[in-house]
Amino acid sequence: MKVTVVGAGNVGATAADVIAKKNFADEVVLIDIKEGLSEGKAMDIMQTAHMLNFDTTVTGVTNDYSKTANSQVIVITSGIPRKPGMSREDLIGTNAKIVKSVVDQAIKYSPDAIFIIISNPMDAMTYLTLKDSKLPRNRILGQGGMLDSSRFRYFLAQALTKAGYPATVTDVDGMVVGGHSDKTMVPLVSKATYRGIPVTDLLTAEQISEAVEATKVGGATLTKLLGTSAWYAPGAAAAAMVEAIALDAKKLIPCCVYLDGEYGEKDLCIGVPVILGKSGCEKIVEVKFSDEEKAKFDESVAAARDTNSKLGDALK
Ligand code: 2OP
Repeated sequence: MKVTVVGAGNVGATAADVIAKKNFADEVVLIDIKEGLSEGKAMDIMQTAHMLNFDTTVTGVTNDYSKTANSQVIVITSGIPRKPGMSREDLIGTNAKIVKSVVDQAIKYSPDAIFIIISNPMDAMTYLTLKDSKLPRNRILGQGGMLDSSRFRYFLAQALTKAGYPATVTDVDGMVVGGHSDKTMVPLVSKATYRGIPVTDLLTAEQISEAVEATKVGGATLTKLLGTSAWYAPGAAAAAMVEAIALDAKKLIPCCVYLDGEYGEKDLCIGVPVILGKSGCEKIVEVKFSDEEKAKFDESVAAARDTNSKLGDALK
């Protein structure tokens, strides 16, 4: 399998690095507009191959999309990251132009590829990619739910441990749906478990609410600490999605996908649980939300529609 990662910044380089370490792909092409950046990062990653024992070839390319030809998956991380105090939605004007130009160039050389969008505001960039490319919706995925779910599990594991139930992240199951947005993502408390036990049996409403709020502002907290947005978990989340597609794993992963009646919504890309396999989104899984989760999901849908309305000319 050949994978292209567009953007050799922190998230793109981390995605390429994790994909290489997982050793399921034949080739990863890392492409960037900045001369030498992707070549340097690719060479650095390749020089870990001996220690980490992988056979994937990572190649760095400056702006030459012909080198990405026949990729089966294209991960788009291009665009500017947010700075402390900014929301993901603040990036829309700049990143819409960049994402559109990347999609147009990439698709020429890889007409059968599955696209994974990471650039923010991710739900709107996924919608833009779908409309711009006119590809079938199973081939356009946004990465947000995988990352936010991982953050939710992390904060739940911490809360459980503090409450006297020693938990590592892998002891906890939890999923986040809705938009990849500080205010409106929806951690599904009703579905979260600790070794099969609902967390609502073990944690107080206040302890759960703290974990939910920490999850929602997880990206902003890291942006404040780092001065730019996070990369290890976003890059690993993208790599996990690529792996599910490459191995045809049929894994249930929350992804941003185009809804056409599912969850009662149409003409919108937003995070919901999907089965990921070799065709991309192979099935949208409709789970039952609690009344509170349903109200929050509706708010998230309204916010995503509002952000899409700001795409303006980019959609033409
Ligand atoms: C995050 O939440 C980059 O949006 C990404 O960290």
